Amino acid sequence: MTSTLPTIALLGGTGKEGKGLAYRWIKAGYSVIIGSRLLDKAQRTARDLNEILAKELADGQKNLIAAKRADIIVLSVPYSAHKSTLEEIKDAVQGKILVDITVPLVPPKVTKVQMPKAGSAAQEAQEILGKNVSVVAAFQNISHEHLFDAHPIDCDVLVTGKGKAARLEVLKLVKAAGMKGWDAGVIENAAVVEGMTSLLIYINKQNKVKSAGIKITGVD
Ligand SMILES: NC(=O)c1ccc[n+]([C@@H]2O[C@H](COP(=O)([O-])OP(=O)(O)OC[C@H]3O[C@@H](n4cnc5c(N)ncnc54)[C@H](OP(=O)(O)O)[C@@H]3O)[C@@H](O)[C@H]2O)c1
Repeated sequence: MTSTLPTIALLGGTGKEGKGLAYRWIKAGYSVIIGSRLLDKAQRTARDLNEILAKELADGQKNLIAAKRADIIVLSVPYSAHKSTLEEIKDAVQGKILVDITVPLVPPKVTKVQMPKAGSAAQEAQEILGKNVSVVAAFQNISHEHLFDAHPIDCDVLVTGKGKAARLEVLKLVKAAGMKGWDAGVIENAAVVEGMTSLLIYINKQNKVKSAGIKITGVD
């Protein structure tokens, strides 16, 4: 039977957060293309994931090919590589959903909110990619420490971005990854969610933990 699930590319999927999300989506039956600057590195990560999960759903490609071949593209690179990666894949993602999980951290002061001129990393991505791409921001508050195994995650995911239909598509991915997602509105709201990550890193440091998160309460 042919899968009706979208194929997901994870650009920077060799890293901590991207590999963790890939693990969870492969487990849920999604085909995933791990993207990297280096083909070998992408293929090695894909092989690892297939082996660990005993599935053949991961492939590894360079970022641009991964973006071309996927239906939904997830950008999972450090903020310092955000602009250059987006410029490289701009043509390949036209007409698609790009999920931006980037937090615009400025080391070494990662516990201090420092937003880019566009308002947020997600808005910057939208400016670079243009109006034919639906940029949706998600997962910024989910520590990678939660992702790389199958246990339930007791943190919520706030999904903001361009267009309700695109946000609903991404909410399906949140659910598939084993988390509770919320439609949190327009892309301008991404600033709040991205900024929250600096607060969570501060709370982690204060309490000597690694995976503080947030939960929405008061809604049945
Ligand atoms: N880690 C977390 O807990 C967490 C939580 C929420 C959100 N995030 C956000 O998710 C994104 C990824 O975080 P991460 O912790 O997974 O990062 P990471 O492990 O440091 O890096 C992810 C991948 O980005 C690529 N990369 C690194 N430097 C690059 C550069 N100069 N140019 C192009 N690509 C580069 C690398 O892939 P290749 O070498 O294979 O190209 C690397 O494996 C960040 O924006 C972060 O703010 C992270």
